[in-house]
Amino acid sequence: MNVPSVAPARPLGVLAALPEELGDLLAAMRAGSGVVTHTLGRRDYHVGTVHGAPCVVTLARIGKVAAAATASALIHAFDVDAIVFTGVAGGVGPDVRIGDVVVGDTLLQHDMNASPLFPCFEIPLLGRARFDADAMLAAALADACERFIAEEGAALAARFNTATPRVHRGLVISGDQFVASAQAVGALRSLLPEALAVEMEGAAIAQVCHEYDVPCAVVRTISDTADEHASASFESFLAELAGSYSTGILKRFLAGYGRASGSR
Ligand code: ADE
Repeated sequence: MNVPSVAPARPLGVLAALPEELGDLLAAMRAGSGVVTHTLGRRDYHVGTVHGAPCVVTLARIGKVAAAATASALIHAFDVDAIVFTGVAGGVGPDVRIGDVVVGDTLLQHDMNASPLFPCFEIPLLGRARFDADAMLAAALADACERFIAEEGAALAARFNTATPRVHRGLVISGDQFVASAQAVGALRSLLPEALAVEMEGAAIAQVCHEYDVPCAVVRTISDTADEHASASFESFLAELAGSYSTGILKRFLAGYGRASGSR
């Protein structure tokens, strides 16, 4: 009998909300390996190898339900080893500027409030509000971000007329709202002063991954500062720069992940 001596590595799930946020990942996957696409629950799941890492790449679409449903499918239908989410976010922290990158160490759903039955932000019956990213994945993502910015940050900053980007790590908050006023972002800052970035998916994925003991990590490039200029800034950043960030960060991260999964 022909029994393989080493079990094939389980794939990494790579997720974004919108196509621009995946950068060139699907093109690189098609160029480097045979890609098999499965359609499930109105989403296409692309299975192949990219930058040396076996991956399942898909688009969640926008919002917490979409993200949770997609994370659940990645875990149950594709048996992923871990999930990484890439995309843009609004800057909330006082030092977080457009063009900076935030790696989530902890994630929280800012629109969850079942008080007085449960404390504000706590997920009912789960006994927690905050979900930790996997420490090793988050460190590897932050390292990939640092290298990307050291090598390509100045050119990117010139293209969008921003300061040289920086990498931040800390709390990322998620909710089913596009935050686009000084008042709304101010309210989030006073409730959650340590929040660095706001988006619409990360903490939902972190909750699903927590419930199934699957490691996850979230990386977000800051497209806007969640104020009155947010929608215009978001749209131009998405069209002009989001893809370059994801391409540069994922290329570096996946090359390291592929080497590590090959040696497991
Ligand atoms: N994603 C990018 N910018 C955002 C914002 N201002 N609010 C919510 N999600 C976002």
